[in-house]
Amino acid sequence: MKRFEDSTVVITGGNKGIGFALAQRFVEEGARVVVASVDADVEDAAARLDAPDRARGFHCDVTDKSQVEALYGFASAEFGGVDVSVQNAGIITIAKVEDLTEGEWDATLAVNTKGVFLCCQEAIRRMRAQGTGGRLINTASGQARSGFIYTPHYAASKFGVVGLTQSLAKEVALDGITVNAICPGIIETDMWDYNDRVWGKMLGDYGPGELMQAWVQNIPMKRAGRGSDVAGLVAFLASDDAAYITGQTINVDGGLIMS
Ligand SMILES: NC(=O)c1ccc[n+]([C@@H]2O[C@H](COP(=O)([O-])OP(=O)(O)OC[C@H]3O[C@@H](n4cnc5c(N)ncnc54)[C@H](O)[C@@H]3O)[C@@H](O)[C@H]2O)c1
Repeated sequence: MKRFEDSTVVITGGNKGIGFALAQRFVEEGARVVVASVDADVEDAAARLDAPDRARGFHCDVTDKSQVEALYGFASAEFGGVDVSVQNAGIITIAKVEDLTEGEWDATLAVNTKGVFLCCQEAIRRMRAQGTGGRLINTASGQARSGFIYTPHYAASKFGVVGLTQSLAKEVALDGITVNAICPGIIETDMWDYNDRVWGKMLGDYGPGELMQAWVQNIPMKRAGRGSDVAGLVAFLASDDAAYITGQTINVDGGLIMS
């Protein structure tokens, strides 16, 4: 029997990048998966997964409580409940402190921190009602370990994810629900392409891909990460093997940050 054959997994930001790799791993391991996103292609993305009969796409803005409630309602209606919820949706912008707008600050905190909280809140409500325990996995970032230049709003949003993870982990431990956070390092996705382009211009005269190459030299493993690297950690945290792990924040970054 596959590890997640009896499990329903909700993944926000699951239509692309890291989230799509997570969805792919969970369907390969037998799960029923709901991928959620604000992007118009979310249902197409679900259909592209290896087991489309066990995958659904749902349009959802994680900053909107009623849409989040509808997402978990959809997962229950389609697949009977939720066992694992991965709060992966995220956004970033890069700007010098005098140029960073209040709108950027609010939007980043809304998606990256409030969105994670709203999804955890609704998943916990449903997991408690089911009485079956559950797993919550929140995507933070290396920037939740050490802030970086020109992204105070993003760093604050991701440090916030670590705090809410620890607080919720304490509150739901006796319900058999674990809550953990992950800190990806440099992972090749559209978000990283943006980082490479914008930071590259602001930090020096880097051409496309050059900043990434330079930073990869600081990684002990000397390579960028892939979505599948993150999927290995997330699947472990969602599994029975991680039953005694909660409130933790784990780096998946080839050794870039050691804390
Ligand atoms: N790529 C990296 O190097 C890296 C490093 C550290 C952390 N992260 C984090 O990993 C997560 C995934 O990043 P990625 O690199 O795959 O990025 P990506 O840009 O490829 O994907 C981001 C996803 O978030 C979704 N999203 C954005 N706003 C949303 C909203 N309001 N409601 C619902 N969905 C929304 C998008 O639709 C998309 O599916 C993010 O939380 C990001 O901060 C990425």
